[in-house]
Amino acid sequence: MNPVILPAGQLPQETIKAFRWQDNLVHRHLDWLSLEERLTQPLAFACTRDGVLRALLSAAADSPQAAWLRLFECGRGYPHAQAFSSLLQAALASLQEQEVPTLYSLAFSDWFRDLLLGNGFQETDQVISLQLTSPQAAFPVLPEGFTLHQTRRVDLPEVLALDQVSFTPEWRLSDRTLEMIYQNQHYGTVMTDGSRVIAYQSSSANFQGMHLNRLAVHPEYQGRGLGAIILQDLIAQAQAWSTAALSVNTQRENHASRKLYARLGFQPSGKPVPVFELGVIH
Ligand SMILES: CC(C)(COP(=O)(O)OP(=O)(O)OC[C@H]1O[C@@H](n2cnc3c(N)ncnc32)[C@H](O)[C@@H]1OP(=O)(O)O)[C@@H](O)C(=O)NCCC(=O)NCCS
Repeated sequence: MNPVILPAGQLPQETIKAFRWQDNLVHRHLDWLSLEERLTQPLAFACTRDGVLRALLSAAADSPQAAWLRLFECGRGYPHAQAFSSLLQAALASLQEQEVPTLYSLAFSDWFRDLLLGNGFQETDQVISLQLTSPQAAFPVLPEGFTLHQTRRVDLPEVLALDQVSFTPEWRLSDRTLEMIYQNQHYGTVMTDGSRVIAYQSSSANFQGMHLNRLAVHPEYQGRGLGAIILQDLIAQAQAWSTAALSVNTQRENHASRKLYARLGFQPSGKPVPVFELGVIH
């Protein structure tokens, strides 16, 4: 029988669970939401043949402007390139209906990069990892009238609005993802100009030390050293906790952030991960 493509949410949870227990071929995006949650959202598709689940794909759009390939998982022995193309076509048709213009993907492996290239994706950037070992504090001085405090739940709506105007569409957060970042953070701060939130950072703890998950300064306030101040406060905190290393991911083309991190002593670490994109609306 021919393969059938259907929304993943139509399959029983047990079928998906049993499939995911297998030793499958997997591309998985960095994500704050669980796959269980992603697979019940729109833009998640399943490929079945002879009534058996063969492959899954999620292309959820957290912003109306950009979707990411968050999961592609295919049973070993099933033609994965064919499954990928069919699932991708279904996802692109839905994205087109919803007028989401661009689909993005990271590629952690050569086999997945080859699939992306074979389906029209183009490499446009790279995610790079940076690390600051043995953080040394230089105590920040806030401009007069500005405040810095640890993020509280009541700050989240303003933080979300700030995130939306600071980042380009593909890197914007949904309110749900921001909530997950907030719940998992070890140290989060917001800066105000005395009346509204104009910068924030959120960092989590891991086995190696701490990881800066998010940093943004409102475009009207960029280039005045405020990003450096909020980072210096984080570095002081990391030092107070005897954190061995502070890591962050940014993009090769994000020159402002690279300049800032380099100035504060961050060094490249690990292998860059290519970022691919595909235009949905031609
Ligand atoms: C990255 C970001 C947080 C920096 O905040 P900021 O308050 O502007 O930072 P600072 O003023 O302390 O320093 C920025 C540095 O980048 C430089 N810079 C700004 N725009 C630049 C550009 N387009 N190209 C090259 N350098 C640039 C500034 O001159 C400054 O360097 P300098 O101190 O050597 O002169 C801010 O640009 C931002 O919010 N960007 C959007 C969100 C983002 O990308 N966050 C980082 C994710 S990892």
